[in-house]
Amino acid sequence: MYTNILTSQNDGITQITINRPLKLNALNKETIQELHAAIRVADLDAETKVIIITGSGEKAFVAGADISEFADFSVSEGGNLAAKGQELLFDFVANLSTPVIAAVNGFALGGGLELAMAAHFRIASDNAKMGLPEVSLGLIPGYGGTQRLSELVGKGRAMEMIMTAGMIDANQALQYGLVNHVTTQEELIPLAEKLAGKIIRNSSVAIGAAIKSVNAAYTDGVNGYQVEIEQFGNCFGTEDFKEGTTAFLEKRKPSFPGK
Ligand code: COA
Repeated sequence: MYTNILTSQNDGITQITINRPLKLNALNKETIQELHAAIRVADLDAETKVIIITGSGEKAFVAGADISEFADFSVSEGGNLAAKGQELLFDFVANLSTPVIAAVNGFALGGGLELAMAAHFRIASDNAKMGLPEVSLGLIPGYGGTQRLSELVGKGRAMEMIMTAGMIDANQALQYGLVNHVTTQEELIPLAEKLAGKIIRNSSVAIGAAIKSVNAAYTDGVNGYQVEIEQFGNCFGTEDFKEGTTAFLEKRKPSFPGK
């Protein structure tokens, strides 16, 4: 069904694997479109409670946007590339109501790190290397990297990483708070699945409301506290809220309908 990605669904988790290992899973236009389509399908699928995104092979998560595709672009084509990519993939992932975990299994550079940063959180294998090398190509990050790296690691560290075009290893990323956990390559997907398992036990409607509220803290012109109040209030109208509170009072585990 897809040319550049693999998808599988099991136990409430949809795993999406970017599968262009010979090009270190670089994001060409077709891959971005396929990722959009697969993530949309997973988000609408009632059986999918968590999405894990990773890269195929042992070397790379994603080594960036596909440089061969935009090497001869004009100013307007360049602007369009960033706008379309942000809309189809990076903002789309960041604002999804289904939680997205990036399992960074190797190089996450440029658009690759930007994709990982658009996910709701990240874990990495110990061979991972992360960076935004765009200025070494005469570019800047265009898929949200200047904004999200600053949010995640702070302005000074983001400035250093972007200006030097350097890479940091998994342990430094952990120290920076760019990734939440580091493990071996073999244990990476099992760890993502274990974290997904903890998420799946909870109300998916409440999680969607939490994602909206947390994201509001990073959206210009929006009062995050006000968004939190509205989302908190909305929870009281959900079946998940009735089930969660009833189960607690009845001293049993909840079985959330997800509505
Ligand atoms: N776009 C297009 N092709 C890419 C790519 C990218 N971002 N990253 C890697 N590739 C391709 C290489 O061109 C090469 O293809 P080929 O075998 O047909 O020549 C293949 O993937 C393997 O990469 P290679 O460079 O040979 O691997 P390496 O182990 O020597 O180096 C990297 C790995 C990640 C350091 C190096 O590939 C690299 O610097 N990539 C670009 C990173 C980047 O600048 N990303 C930001 C883009 S905006």
